[in-house]
Amino acid sequence: MSARPLVLGIAGSPREGGNSDRLLDAALQAAREAGAETRLLAARDVGMTPCTGCNSCSATGECVLADGADVYDAIDAADAIIVSSPVYFAGVPAGLKALFDRMQPYWARTYELGLPRPPRRPGGAILVRGGGDPYGFAGAEATTRSVLAVLGIDVLEIVLVEGADAPADVEREPGALVRARQLGAAVASASSERTNGGS
Ligand SMILES: Cc1cc2nc3c(=O)[nH]c(=O)nc-3n(C[C@H](O)[C@H](O)[C@H](O)COP(=O)(O)O)c2cc1C
Repeated sequence: MSARPLVLGIAGSPREGGNSDRLLDAALQAAREAGAETRLLAARDVGMTPCTGCNSCSATGECVLADGADVYDAIDAADAIIVSSPVYFAGVPAGLKALFDRMQPYWARTYELGLPRPPRRPGGAILVRGGGDPYGFAGAEATTRSVLAVLGIDVLEIVLVEGADAPADVEREPGALVRARQLGAAVASASSERTNGGS
């Protein structure tokens, strides 16, 4: 019998039920329909404290801060990861950025300690923005790609949704929900192939 891959969704918005949450819900729903199990981790709920730059992880490969064990466990257990976030001042919201920065131990293990890299896993991201400033998605996309690379994620797609500002605006953009669903299904299918050895 085939094992069901576990797709982890990381929600980046401090606003529960907003556009990026709705898009992530659509992606995870499609992943379930494609046979995956899903888990949702919201940065606003885990409230990771920011990296202090102490560089202890450069020596040990572990973070010295007391919080975050559940987040590291969830990331390690996932067969695939999808991040969904609004653009905030051309980057990602502070809570998600704190979570991203706390991924430094994975970087340290690979690039400073020479430990085996995390297994390659499929994934992607969804970024949504109101469109009120001229700086676009580039900053948030680069930050997200950077952390996904360190986590060993092969990015299938970054879904970019522009012009959604009020919390339910994406509901008036069915194309955006369709693209989010397509990403969820593609990630589930790619992780299923890897989990089940291509069978
Ligand atoms: C603090 C803050 C900063 C924002 N910065 C940007 C920005 O730089 N560019 C942009 O297009 N939209 C920006 N927005 C608009 C959000 O990206 C938009 O409202 C988005 O739909 C919020 O997603 P959510 O509903 O998932 O929270 C900002 C909103 C807030 C509250």
